[in-house]
Amino acid sequence: MDTIIVRVAEEKDGKYAQEIVDEMASSAKARGTGIAKRTPEYVAGKMKEGKGVIALTDKGQWVGFCYIESWGHEKFVANSGLIVNPDFRGRGVAKAIKFTAFRLSRKKFPSAKIFGLTTGLQVMKINNELGYSPVPFSELTDDDEFWKGCGSCVNFPILTSKNRKNCLCTGMLYDPEWEKERGPKDWDKLYEKANFADKNVIVEFE
Ligand SMILES: CC(C)(COP(=O)(O)OP(=O)(O)OC[C@H]1O[C@@H](n2cnc3c(N)ncnc32)[C@H](O)[C@@H]1OP(=O)(O)O)[C@@H](O)C(=O)NCCC(=O)NCCS
Repeated sequence: MDTIIVRVAEEKDGKYAQEIVDEMASSAKARGTGIAKRTPEYVAGKMKEGKGVIALTDKGQWVGFCYIESWGHEKFVANSGLIVNPDFRGRGVAKAIKFTAFRLSRKKFPSAKIFGLTTGLQVMKINNELGYSPVPFSELTDDDEFWKGCGSCVNFPILTSKNRKNCLCTGMLYDPEWEKERGPKDWDKLYEKANFADKNVIVEFE
């Protein structure tokens, strides 16, 4: 079985951007759910800025991706666009990517609240493991640029009809302030507990 490496993406990974957006689009179609559409240029830009997390096999085949972006003058950071190549699902890759994106978010924006929008049970489970809580949209960023990203989702008319208070996605949030009471995350323990289903999934993060 192939070894899968999960790491922060770099500019050279831009060659995978087209494949990533194609898979985002066809997975959304298959699920029949909404998704904020992304262009290959946008995805490649995130990689160049060091805001992407990519999973590749040791032979260089694309396996998965997600990216982070800050909003509201860096008060918030969203983890978005999670996608795993269907040939590699169920091996814990999404979890390894989300853990890495979380760590990248904390490293790049240490005091920002981390959040995501999702309709997916798997993603909710992973977020829960990372310590996120479900929240109403009023707790998320009010940065118009973030919400504009939902404009390409089929459910956007629902979001606007509800004055952005809620929609079909669940908002989940992690506030670093909570660490004052709970203490910082023990990543060794979390990784041990996470048990990425497949021992050939390796996270490289410094
Ligand atoms: C959602 C997606 C990213 C999951 O990728 P994956 O690599 O197969 O997920 P993982 O193997 O890391 O599984 C994560 C968790 O979900 C669980 N899970 C897997 N398949 C599941 C299913 N069909 N229903 C419920 N839970 C499931 C796993 O058991 C694991 O939890 P556990 O560790 O507690 O057992 C992938 O299916 C995908 O790309 N889907 C299309 C795009 C999408 O939905 N993106 C999310 C947008 S918010």
